[in-house]
Amino acid sequence: MVLSHRKIVLGVTGGIAAYKSAYLARLLIKAGAEVQVIMTRAGAKFVTPLTFESLTGRSVAVEMFAENTFVGTRHIDFAEWADLIVVAPATADFIAQIANGFCPELLSTVVCASNRPLLLAPAMNDVMWENPAVQTNVETLKNRGVFFANVGIGEMACRSFGPGRMAEPDEIFEHIASIIGKSGPLKDKKVIITAGPCREAIDPVRYISNRSSGKMGFALAIEAEKLGADVTLISGPTALLNPDRVTVVNTETTAEMAQAVQSHFANADYLVMAAAPADFTPTKPFDQKVKKNDSGMALELSPTIDILKSLKDKKTSGQTIIGFALETEYVLDNAKKKLADKNLDFIVVNDALEAGAAFDSDTNRVVIIAKDGRSTELKKADKDVIARNIWEYVLGDGRRTEGTA
Ligand code: CTP
Repeated sequence: MVLSHRKIVLGVTGGIAAYKSAYLARLLIKAGAEVQVIMTRAGAKFVTPLTFESLTGRSVAVEMFAENTFVGTRHIDFAEWADLIVVAPATADFIAQIANGFCPELLSTVVCASNRPLLLAPAMNDVMWENPAVQTNVETLKNRGVFFANVGIGEMACRSFGPGRMAEPDEIFEHIASIIGKSGPLKDKKVIITAGPCREAIDPVRYISNRSSGKMGFALAIEAEKLGADVTLISGPTALLNPDRVTVVNTETTAEMAQAVQSHFANADYLVMAAAPADFTPTKPFDQKVKKNDSGMALELSPTIDILKSLKDKKTSGQTIIGFALETEYVLDNAKKKLADKNLDFIVVNDALEAGAAFDSDTNRVVIIAKDGRSTELKKADKDVIARNIWEYVLGDGRRTEGTA
């Protein structure tokens, strides 16, 4: 679906066109997006929050300091959650608020705290729309990279005729779809991501593998695609659904994964090795199923190819390689050694023994170390949040706390 995995904040301010935004919410949901509606107090007078809650399956936020609701830092949480914010309708007053940095509403505060694409669909009377103060605010915002839906010309609810009608929901929807995926710091970049475990056959029915679920690699692929990249996901066997708009190459053994990575690497701008290849493979796999016996058996294992090491001499200066390190002891020291040995630009370090981190978990807590010695620690969060933060760090978003691991 065209908007699957996309998280959209739909802001609704106080104009009669608010009734059309219910249909916009429906279009976004049908296209696979997750939609969080935030209304201004005036917006909630035109259409009730219940309408949007029923359409989106999420509670609607209105008040900055809502009673009987955990408020915390939710203005920041909403801002970071969204891949895109659309405000439809956007009144003259709301446009003035965000052009001038005023935050009298939860919605204007969220917009102010966000660095994600912002689309405004203005809706107001024609004289208001042509007022120089409004036009100056619109120009100011356009110059800052804010997207605007075209205003329609026609009859208004106030019976006057002219420009100022909100764009139709279908048009706003198309605008959202065209902004998403076509903007972003990874636009025109080729990204290869590996994910999941590898399986090494003992006999036709048994194999050696590990506990990797593939969730971290899949989350990194989904986030890279959202940032505009052309993503190839090379995945071992997992129980996960293939992400939309990502090319998936399925592999089973470490040798197969190595071959797939090597054949795609020359064209890649980024390689993220989030997979957990097997380090050993049975030296002589049995052709037939091994029958049980009372004396047990010893299995001889040989080392597999180290995929990252095999690329050391092929890497060019324009390519960035991000490895993972899964450790159970001397976590940071071992990771730094891998960063150097495997000629990586970044290494993302997991502690395998920590509950709710690393293998087979929906959450993770990692430290990222760059080859120049910078590092950052990402507190425990869902893997999609961790994935977004890893990309932000790799792409040089300086807001994250720096340190030296
Ligand atoms: N890796 C690889 N090829 C392998 C094994 C691992 O490219 N045969 C990659 C992993 O995808 C990861 C990084 O190397 O990005 C480190 O993997 P990890 O399992 O932590 O370390 P190993 O190199 O396998 O060393 P050890 O198991 O001894 O810690």
